[in-house]
Amino acid sequence: MLRTHTCGELSAENLDFEVALCGWVDTYRDHGGGLFIDLRDRYGLTQVVFGPDTPDEVMALARKLRGETVVRIEGVVARRPEGNENPKLPTGAIEVRAKSVEILNESLTPPFQLDASEEDGDLAGEDLRLKYRYLDLRRSMMQETLLLRHRIIKLMRDYFDENDFIDVETPVLGRSTPEGARDYLVPSRVHPGSFYALPQSPQLYKQILMVAGYDRYVQVARCFRDEDLRADRQPEFTQLDLEMSFVTADDVIGMIDGLVVRVAKEILDLDVCLPLPRMTYDEAMERFGHDAPDLRFGMEIVDATEWAGKTGFRVFQGVATGGGRVRGINAKGASDRYSRKGIDELTDFVVQDFGAKGLAWFKVEEGGDLASPIAKNFEPEERAALAEAMNAEPGDLLLLVADSFEVTCRALSALRTRLGKELELYDPKQMHFSWVIEFPMFAYNENEKSWTAMHHPFTAPRPQDTELLETDPGACRAVAYDLVINGSEAGGGTIRIHDQTLQQQVFHLLGIDEQMAADRFGFLLEALQYGAPPHGGIALGIDRWVMLFSGLENIRDCIAFPKTQRASDLMTAAPGAVDAAQLAELGIKIRR
Ligand code: AMO
Ligand code: AMP
Repeated sequence: MLRTHTCGELSAENLDFEVALCGWVDTYRDHGGGLFIDLRDRYGLTQVVFGPDTPDEVMALARKLRGETVVRIEGVVARRPEGNENPKLPTGAIEVRAKSVEILNESLTPPFQLDASEEDGDLAGEDLRLKYRYLDLRRSMMQETLLLRHRIIKLMRDYFDENDFIDVETPVLGRSTPEGARDYLVPSRVHPGSFYALPQSPQLYKQILMVAGYDRYVQVARCFRDEDLRADRQPEFTQLDLEMSFVTADDVIGMIDGLVVRVAKEILDLDVCLPLPRMTYDEAMERFGHDAPDLRFGMEIVDATEWAGKTGFRVFQGVATGGGRVRGINAKGASDRYSRKGIDELTDFVVQDFGAKGLAWFKVEEGGDLASPIAKNFEPEERAALAEAMNAEPGDLLLLVADSFEVTCRALSALRTRLGKELELYDPKQMHFSWVIEFPMFAYNENEKSWTAMHHPFTAPRPQDTELLETDPGACRAVAYDLVINGSEAGGGTIRIHDQTLQQQVFHLLGIDEQMAADRFGFLLEALQYGAPPHGGIALGIDRWVMLFSGLENIRDCIAFPKTQRASDLMTAAPGAVDAAQLAELGIKIRR
């Protein structure tokens, strides 16, 4: 090694050691007589001093150092002069008095400041940081996050290894595995006109492994989905993917419960009590309007449909008697927090972004009556009844939406999430883990007048619901479970169909006719007939786990080389054009 120690290692226990350190010049301060640099590597920072005793030629070289120059320094460990200690740094009691310096490599001036912080608002724009990702990745925040990611993945691998899971790699070039997004396609040179699809998940392969008798499979799997990106989605992301044979939903959930306890303890020193709370999908939608509710705070949705139907307020009455719902939330003590203008903003938020037609509001007055521009549309007893139903107390702000059930869910859950944050209803460091279970099997697509799989087409219906496949598919519930952390879907899985006839039936319902099923999934339907065991599994979104466990809000900060919202890699400039010869070889012609 070119060095004897790392930059994070030396302390008062090493006084008078002759050491050699290598690293990058982090900061550089020339005080005339003395020249101080903080030398940085992955492990930390060490202060290096060039002082009056430093030989002239070494001093001359030291004066050439700039930020990010790569150097090797030899010197002696000394106690820092009294008053100059830095208790915040593990190496803060000492400094290295330099005897020699060797410049290992120069650096151009970085296009942005590496030690800038997000809080101070002087952090460079994300595009610039992504273009020079190798510089961005030198920032301690990024290094800590990637280290945390490594630790979480290691904990997961160890945990599943201890539980008899075996790691099997599945292909990246394969047939489409539908998870509801568009496929990324790869043209075949050997079979012109044919394409591989990158896996949206290893779903089919892991089921085939169960048929093959592997019993417990796990993989840290890269998945590819060409979908609209958001702060918590990437086109290429990583799952901790697993599958188990001869299990019920409880077995899979229990296995993940154990993992949650382990990761929370090791990473955050947090004791999580088991079992994690469970809630059905229907209950989650009723109480929180969302299938991954943030349970760090209350502010549950209250249904006022029956009440609304009997009032004289036309908007409410019409919706309530026309099959819609009137529902609301009570923002406790928030009536002073939102002026007319503030409420107009909340209204724009639910109307423009979430499709509501309006936002009705009431401020609860000292005496308990409800004040609002629409208050006069209600009799005093009606106002009192609403106040009681919504547990209203003076100072509260009641917010109601009248619309279809789906729109009230979307608007009120978004409002609830926003208010929870704005009103600081929870400690951002708090962690909440829960399960949402019994999802519907299917969702109806109004535009295409067809059913789509809510999870994926291989999910088993609850045994008591199989008849509903024929009679009322919308009411059919799946043996499905999602892990929710702080209002984020951190994982999702199901028990699978292991019976070929039932699988055919579900395909049929999804509009996949026999021919299409045979073309796309023939191998699965065939495999199911060769002794497929009952099986089920789950996949955890590793990028999201890292995001949630590090308290970050942007998934790109949790991935070494992420893509932008427009699915580009700004450092390598992917995707890019390819030359004509390559296209010709693939039999592809680009239509502009
Ligand atoms: P699902 O589609 O729910 O299930 O994916 C599992 C988990 O992966 C994460 N995730 C994502 N993370 C980042 N970017 C994305 N674009 C993205 N999409 C999903 C989420 C999600 O909960 N084969 C099934 C699993 C199974 O049934 O076993 C599947 O892929 O955290
Ligand atoms: P309007 O009678 O349409 O002027 O609406 C009167 C008030 O009721 C306004 O404050 C609207 O924002 C609110 N409002 C209108 N439609 C709805 C709705 N569907 N749900 C909740 N509030 C509504």
